Amino acid sequence: MNKDITLSYLDTRGQIAPGELEEKIKASAGVLAAAVAGEEQYKDCLGWHNVDDWAGSERLDFLMEQASRVRADADALVVIGIGGSNQASRAAVKALRPKNGPAILWAGNTISAREMADTLSELDGYKSIYIDCIAKNFETLEPGIAFRVLRQYLEKRYGEAEAARRIFATGTPGSTLHQLCRDHGYTFLTFPGPVGGRYSIGTDVGLFPMAVAGIDIKAMVQGMRDMRDRLFTEKAEDNLALKYACLRSLLQEKGYRLEMLAFFEPRLDYFAKWFIQLFAESEGKEGKGLYPVCASNSEDLHSIGQFIQQGSPILFETFVEIRARDASVVMPKETKADYFQYLDGKDFWDINDIARKATMEAHSKGGIPCLNLSVPALDEHTLGEMFYFFLFSCYLACKLTGVNPFDQPGVEAYKGYMFKNLGKPGVN
Ligand code: PA5
Repeated sequence: MNKDITLSYLDTRGQIAPGELEEKIKASAGVLAAAVAGEEQYKDCLGWHNVDDWAGSERLDFLMEQASRVRADADALVVIGIGGSNQASRAAVKALRPKNGPAILWAGNTISAREMADTLSELDGYKSIYIDCIAKNFETLEPGIAFRVLRQYLEKRYGEAEAARRIFATGTPGSTLHQLCRDHGYTFLTFPGPVGGRYSIGTDVGLFPMAVAGIDIKAMVQGMRDMRDRLFTEKAEDNLALKYACLRSLLQEKGYRLEMLAFFEPRLDYFAKWFIQLFAESEGKEGKGLYPVCASNSEDLHSIGQFIQQGSPILFETFVEIRARDASVVMPKETKADYFQYLDGKDFWDINDIARKATMEAHSKGGIPCLNLSVPALDEHTLGEMFYFFLFSCYLACKLTGVNPFDQPGVEAYKGYMFKNLGKPGVN
């Protein structure tokens, strides 16, 4: 069976003229070459470029050793972080559903009192709790306040010395978070300086929580490495990421404003959240960019499906097809007349696949440009490939859009008003 990730394009109404994509790819070969070389202007943001820089075998062994200490003792790990600091590990844990590890709880991604209160009472039901606070510079409010509350919770339950043994923090060396770790004996992991939050999957940020959960991080990193090698050596005309970036760019030029990631495995719900953050924060600036959204099917076909089929023609879809069967549930025969006899003996997996194909057919015949990203399976290796594919594609897409892929100046605007009203020193 073909193990490659492939990308095809279905455009029944011919929005992209014959030869147009090939022309665009040819004209964008320089963008690919510059991204592969790593541009000088982004040299402080390209730490994720070479997977081995932060996820070489020694680092993976170290992370796995730390994770086994936690796994041997914990029945819950609370991952504190927001945005790029927690999205990738949460996407992986939710997609792969590793068994036999501690429960993974997510905190520091909201200011909701209800959520914090519920997390605290949920923790009362666990015997042995560890936490990992992930924050690049430890200036973000959500992880900052959650860390204080959860740290004190651990101290009350276990005493200061034992709590310290149970606390991990992942931050920039030299940051105030690092200082807290030094002062109080917490285990410090590295958030690399030249890697932005949303690009941090292949570092301690993404990999440590995954390892605690029981994900095979070596296979995940191998997937990232394999995709990196592929994208860095494939010629422009064959390059998977350049093809994807050029299709997005052409559709944007033709007036499409939304890209919808559509999938038929709810296990990908949090992967979609990671994808949405990656593209929204990277590309949505200077009045430009595609607004990334998602459809978790078949459920969403019964809600937004109506709009997609017949509403304003503002979106195109990127379907994710998973080729491997990973489960089987066969419709049992039934003597009671429920009128679903036409499905007797059929496997849910096949019914779902037929629904996926039918959706693509209906949407594409309805005039919606449809991309199909076909992946071999939903396992560690493929997920690693998918992460790297979207990271590198995002870099290329931003280059084609003409924006900086690595900053996010727009997210500061609301913070000014919030900090002023909260009385943060130095904010007027
Ligand atoms: O991708 C990014 O850079 C952001 O989404 C950050 O990850 C997010 O704002 C959290 O930042 P920090 O880790 O500093 O708390």
